[in-house]
Amino acid sequence: MDYGKYVAKRAKDIEISTIRFFFNMVNEVEGAISLCIGEPDFTTPEHINKAAVRALENGQTFYTPNAGLPELRNEISDYLKRRFNLEYNPKSEIIVTIGASQAIDVAIRSLVEPEDEVLIPQPSFVAYKPCTTLAGGRTVCVPTYIEDEFILRPDVLEKYITDKSKVLIMPYPNNPTGAVMTKEQLEEIAEVVKKHDLIVITDEIYCELTYGVDHTPFASIPGMWERTVTISGFSKSYAMTGWRLGYIGAPEGLASELLKVHQYNVTCAASMCQYAAVEALKNGDDDVKKMKMEYDKRRRFLFESLNEIGLECFEPKGAFYAFPSIQNTGLNSQEFAERLLKEARVAVVPGTAFGENGEGFVRMAYSTSMENLQEAVERIKGFIKKINI
Ligand SMILES: Cc1ncc(COP(=O)(O)O)c(C=O)c1O
Repeated sequence: MDYGKYVAKRAKDIEISTIRFFFNMVNEVEGAISLCIGEPDFTTPEHINKAAVRALENGQTFYTPNAGLPELRNEISDYLKRRFNLEYNPKSEIIVTIGASQAIDVAIRSLVEPEDEVLIPQPSFVAYKPCTTLAGGRTVCVPTYIEDEFILRPDVLEKYITDKSKVLIMPYPNNPTGAVMTKEQLEEIAEVVKKHDLIVITDEIYCELTYGVDHTPFASIPGMWERTVTISGFSKSYAMTGWRLGYIGAPEGLASELLKVHQYNVTCAASMCQYAAVEALKNGDDDVKKMKMEYDKRRRFLFESLNEIGLECFEPKGAFYAFPSIQNTGLNSQEFAERLLKEARVAVVPGTAFGENGEGFVRMAYSTSMENLQEAVERIKGFIKKINI
């Protein structure tokens, strides 16, 4: 049957992420070390698991309110205030979602009309572009550069703004580069946002994972709270990727619109996962600290080793990725990743998976054991020697 004639153009216009392609290839190479997937290698802390089991045993298996359990929204509101001095009313300004992924989709679909332009700093997470396409909007990729440690520059952003620009995505701390933006740098972006009357979707899923620098939420910049949709979640900070739990914080006037899209999309997030998240926020601070300390050790080892073996890498200050340049190998990102996997049994993701200007770079996730990282660095070193750089 020719399904092509049935499938909507907007679905045909998007593609499966290259990350999955490489992830699947890893399984075909025996003994390969994967630095491909951006998820914690830690299991979810036991007390969080137990909270979900308790919820099941207590029969808490029903739909929750669309916006999420009131108890969880209260905890999220307290957490954002306590950690980042951000204020969202738990009754009307917080929505619990199925991962930050669904939050991104809901936010983009609620804001973007056909022909609206969505400004996406790149390289960045793979979902912003296809979600914009599915909403009928136009993606406008705004390049960031290694010379600027991959922060978004206000002058570069200005160049890409037109009278159709509506939404700016702020993807910091950044996947794949590990870049973090300071308060002062965000203030400069805020000026551009005000000047051009943009609305901002800020993806702060890595807000707990910054090293030696504080995370500044975009909504905390003066004048930005009212024009920002804040997205975060539990996957990365609490090692809860499989629980599929995230959230949105937005001013009431926006949140009430987003809630409609969320409601007809999924009704609510899974009830037992929401109970687990309450426990994570109540008693999980130490778990976050412990995991972060371990990532930090690996981070330093990886970026220092990469520089030593000849792959230039700026110091990533957030998330759990290093983004070394492979330009001096003479290979492009795709070739480098394919050959590294086949010839040295190390899987990394080509920078181009995160946007065209990721060419010349690869992403290495250090959310794997120190032993794996040490062995991976040895293998990469051997590979680089072999190709003679
Ligand atoms: C920047 C960024 N945003 C969102 C997500 C999706 O997170 P979640 O598991 O909460 O859907 C990821 C996952 O890799 C990510 O890197």
